[in-house]
Amino acid sequence: MILRNVIAKMLTRKNPDEALAGAKEGGLEKTLGVWDLIILGVGAIIGSGIFAVVGTAAAAEGTGAGPALMVSMVIAAIACIFSALCYSEFSTMIPVAGGAYTYTFATLGECMAWLIGWVLMLEYAIGFIAVACAWTNHFMQFIKGFSNVLPAWICNPPYWLTSDYRNAAHYYQAQGLDPNSVIPHIAGIPISINLPAIIMIILMTAILVKGTKDSAKMAGIMVAVKLGVIALFVLAGAFYVRPENWTPFAPNGFEGVFMGAFIIFFAYIGFDALATAAEECKNPQRDLPIGIIGSLLITTIVYVLVALVLTGLQPTSGVAIPEGLLKAPMAYAMSAVGQNWVAGLISVGSIAGLTSVLLVLQMAATRVLFAMSRDNFLPKVFQKTHKKFNTPHILTITVGLVGIIGTLFLDLDVAASLCNFGTFTSFIIVCVAILILRKIDPDRERPFKVPFCPWFPLMGILCCGGLMIYSMVVAKGETAALSSMLFIAWVLIGVLIYATYGYRKNREAEIEVVENEQITSNI
Ligand code: ALA
Repeated sequence: MILRNVIAKMLTRKNPDEALAGAKEGGLEKTLGVWDLIILGVGAIIGSGIFAVVGTAAAAEGTGAGPALMVSMVIAAIACIFSALCYSEFSTMIPVAGGAYTYTFATLGECMAWLIGWVLMLEYAIGFIAVACAWTNHFMQFIKGFSNVLPAWICNPPYWLTSDYRNAAHYYQAQGLDPNSVIPHIAGIPISINLPAIIMIILMTAILVKGTKDSAKMAGIMVAVKLGVIALFVLAGAFYVRPENWTPFAPNGFEGVFMGAFIIFFAYIGFDALATAAEECKNPQRDLPIGIIGSLLITTIVYVLVALVLTGLQPTSGVAIPEGLLKAPMAYAMSAVGQNWVAGLISVGSIAGLTSVLLVLQMAATRVLFAMSRDNFLPKVFQKTHKKFNTPHILTITVGLVGIIGTLFLDLDVAASLCNFGTFTSFIIVCVAILILRKIDPDRERPFKVPFCPWFPLMGILCCGGLMIYSMVVAKGETAALSSMLFIAWVLIGVLIYATYGYRKNREAEIEVVENEQITSNI
C-alpha cells in the first residue's frame, strides 16, 4: 500500500496549465523576438564542433568519414531535426522556462522530471565547462600570434596558469620535470588554475545577470563575427580546392560515415537551449519553431559548405594526418595553402564562436535550474530574480561558480563526451514525451504540430538512441569507457538525490498547499 502510494507520487504529472500559471506568477521578463532567437540558436550551435572537432570527424585514423564528411553532417542534422520538431511542438504549447525538464514533468511525472533535469546539467553545465576549457586553448593559440608585439608573460604564461592540475602535471611530466617543483603551492595545495577560462566565466555571468536582451545582443556580435569568418573560409578556400582530394569519397566506408556523424553530433548541440528560454519570448507560439528549426537549418547549410571546402583543400586519407588538421582544421587548411591572414581571422572567429556557445549554455543551465527550483527540487532562494534586471541572478552566479570549480578538475574530452550523453538522453525523452502527451491530452491547443506523428518522434528516438548505443558499445578508447561509466554514475547519483531530498521536498510542499487551502477556507 505504502509502496503503491510512493510510486503514484513519483509518477505525479504536472499539468501544463499549472506550469503556465507558475510562469505567469513569478515569470521572467519577455524580451526576445524571432531574430534574437535565431541569433541565440546559431550562437549556441556553432562553436568548437566546427572549429575543432570537425577535423577528427573527417580524418581520424581508420574511422574518419573522409570527404564523405558532408554526408555525416547531414545524417547528424537529420538525427537532430526530429527532436527539433518535437521541441518546437512542446515549446509553443508550454512556453515556460525549463525545456525538456518541464515537458517531462507534464508527461512522465515527478521522478523522471528530476532525472531529466539532472541529466540536462550534463549537457548544459558540463558542456559549459568543456567549452570554457576549449576557449582557453583557442585564446592561447590566438595570443601566441602576437608574440612580436605583446610581452612574453601574456603570450607564454606558465602552463599552471592556463590549465587544471591534472593536465598541468601531465604536461610537466612529459617535459621531464617534477610537477611539484614547478607548480606553486599555497598551504601545501598545488595551485594550477585555468585563469583565462575563469575570467571568461566571470564575464559571461555578469552579462547574463545584466539581462537576457543584452546577452542576445552580445551573442549577435559573436554570431556575425563567426559567420563572417566561416564565409571567408568557404569563399577564399573555394579557389584552392583540388577535386582529386574528394576521391576516395568514403575511405572508411559506411562505418567511417556513421562514426563521423556521431563525432560531429556535438557540433549541432545547442538549438534545444532555445526552448529553455521560452518564457522570455515575446511571441513564443510563432517565433520559437522559427528560431529552433531556422537555426538548425542555417547551421546545417554552413556545416556542409565547410565540409565540402575543407575536404577539398586537404587530403583526409591515405597520408599522415597533421596534428593541426585535427585541432584547428579550418585555420590549418588555409595556412597550408599560404593564406595565413585568413587563418588568423579564423582564429578570431573561433574565439567568438566559443564565447557565444558559452553564453547560451550558461543561460540554458540557469533556466532549467530555475524551473526546478519553482517545483521545489531546489531551495526557494534560487527562485529570486534581480530587482533591477529581473534575471535569476542567484542561480546565474551559482552556475558560474560551479563552472569555475569545474575548470579546476575536469578533463575536456570526457566533459564533451558526457555532454553528448546528456543531449542524446534529453532528445529521446522529448520525443517520447510528445507521443505520451498526444495520447493523454489530445485536445490541448498545439500552435505547432510535429508532422507525421508518431513516425517523426519515433525516428528521433531511433536516430538518437542508435547513435548513443553506438557510442557506448562500438567506440573504443579510454575517454569513451570513462565517460560511459561517469554517465551511469551521474544517473545513479541523481536517483539517490531524488530519493533522499527531491521526493521529501515535494511532499512537504504538498502539505504546505493543503494547509494554505484550509486556512483560506476557514477565513
Ligand atoms: N555545438 C556546440 C559546439 O560546437 C556545443 O561548441
